Amino acid sequence: MNRDKAHKTTFATKLGIIFATAGSAVGLGNIWHFPTTCGQNGGAAFVLIYLIITLLLGIPGMMGEFIIGRNGGKDAVSSYRKAGGKHAYGIIGAAGVLGGSLILGFYSVIAGWCVYYLGLALTDNVLGGQEHINNTFTNLMAPDNYLPCLFSIAFILLTQMIIVRGVRKGIEWASKIMVPTLIMLLILLIGASCSLPNAFDGILFLLHPDFSQVNEQVIFKALGEAFFSLSLGTACLCTYASYFQEDTNLLKSTIHITFIDMAVAIMAGLMIFPAAFSVNVKPDVGPSLVFMTMPNVFEQAFPHSIAYVVSVMFYLLLTIAALTSTISMHEIGTAVISQETPLSRSKAAWVVSAFCSLIGVLSAYSLSHEDFGLFGDSFFNNFDKLTANIMLPLGALCTMLIVGWVMPKEVVMKELTSNGLYPRRELIVKMFYILSRVVCPILIVCILMYKIGII
Ligand code: TRP
Repeated sequence: MNRDKAHKTTFATKLGIIFATAGSAVGLGNIWHFPTTCGQNGGAAFVLIYLIITLLLGIPGMMGEFIIGRNGGKDAVSSYRKAGGKHAYGIIGAAGVLGGSLILGFYSVIAGWCVYYLGLALTDNVLGGQEHINNTFTNLMAPDNYLPCLFSIAFILLTQMIIVRGVRKGIEWASKIMVPTLIMLLILLIGASCSLPNAFDGILFLLHPDFSQVNEQVIFKALGEAFFSLSLGTACLCTYASYFQEDTNLLKSTIHITFIDMAVAIMAGLMIFPAAFSVNVKPDVGPSLVFMTMPNVFEQAFPHSIAYVVSVMFYLLLTIAALTSTISMHEIGTAVISQETPLSRSKAAWVVSAFCSLIGVLSAYSLSHEDFGLFGDSFFNNFDKLTANIMLPLGALCTMLIVGWVMPKEVVMKELTSNGLYPRRELIVKMFYILSRVVCPILIVCILMYKIGII
C-alpha cells in the first residue's frame, strides 16, 4: 500500500517542478561557496569557465539523471536498476543515497551556522565592530561550544519536518514559497550593494575576465563547483525526476534549472563583491567570508538601522537557500528506504535524519577540535573531499555511461520527447549522445584522475 502510494506521487504543477528542482540546485554552493571560490581564483575568468562547464557537462548530466529518474518512476535504487536492466545497477543509486546523506551531514553544519547568525541578526547581535564580529565567530568555533552540533541536528530535523509532509504538501509547497522569497531577497540585497560608492569596481571584478589567472587548477575547481552546484552525481535529481509528470519537458526543465542556478551564482557575486569593494575589503578571504567579512562590510557601508535590516535579510537568504537544498538531499534516502523496505515515509525519514545527524555532529565537532579527525584532516573536510572529489564525479560518470551506452535508445528517446509529445530534434539527440557517450565521460575521468592526484 505504502509502496504504491509512494511511487505514484508526482509534483502537482510545472512551476512546482521548476521551483523544487531549482531549489535543490540553488544553495550554499551558489551563495556562499561560489563567490568565495570566484574571489580566490581571479573573478570573471573563473565565472566564464564555470559557465562553459555548466553548459557542457551540467546540461547532459542533469538530463541523464532526469531520464533515469522519470523512466524508473521510483526511488534511486529502483530507477538505476531499471535503467541498467540488472539488479546490480541499483548499487549506483545506493551510492547516491550514501553520498547525499554524507553531504547533508556536513552541509547542515554550515546551514546551522546560518540559522545561528539569523538569530543573532534578528536580536541585533551580529553587528558591533570588527572585534565583536571576529569574537562571535571565534566563540562559535570554540572547543567547548556545542551549539554547532545542536544547530546541525536542528537543521536536519527542520528538513525532516518538511519531508514527512510528502512530495506535494512538503517539498513542492515549501519550494514554491522559499524559492521566490530567495530570489526577491537576493534582488533587494543586490540593489543595496550596488547603490554603494565604488560598487562598480566589484561589478567589474565579477564581469571582466583576467585570463592570466587561469591555470588547470582553476579549471578543475570550476568543474567541482559546477557539479556540486547543480546537485549532480548523487541521484538527487533522479529522485526528483521520479515525481515529474508524464508530459514534463525534460530538456526545457533542464535548461530552466541550469539557467536559474547560474543566474543565482552570479547574482550572489553581484550582492557580495560591490559591497566588499566599496569598503575596500578583499573578497578572497575564504570560508569566513559570509560570517566575518560580510557583517563588517554591512556595518561600514550602511547606517546601523539599514545594516540591521540587510544582515537579517542576508542570513535569511542563506538559511532558505540551504533548506531547499537539504530537502533534496534528505529526500534521496527517505525515498529509497520508504519504497524499498516496509518502513513508512516518516520512519524512513527518521532513519535518514539519525544517520545524517551523526555525520553532522562528527563534522561540527571536528571543526572545533583539531586533534579529532581522520588522515590528518577534520571529518568535515574528509566528508567534503570524499563526496566532491570522488563520489559526485563517479556518480555522474556512471549516469552518463548508463544513459549513453546501456539504456536502449528507444527508452531514452521516449523520455527525451515525453513519449512523442515533443518533437524529436535530430541535432539535439545527436549532441546529447556525443556528450553523454564520449565527451562527458572523458572529461569526468580527467577530473577524477586530477582530484585523486594521478594527473
Ligand atoms: N546544489 C546545492 C548547492 O549548491 C547542494 C546540493 C543539494 C547537492 N543537493 C545535492 C550537492 C546533491 C550534491 C548532490 O548548495
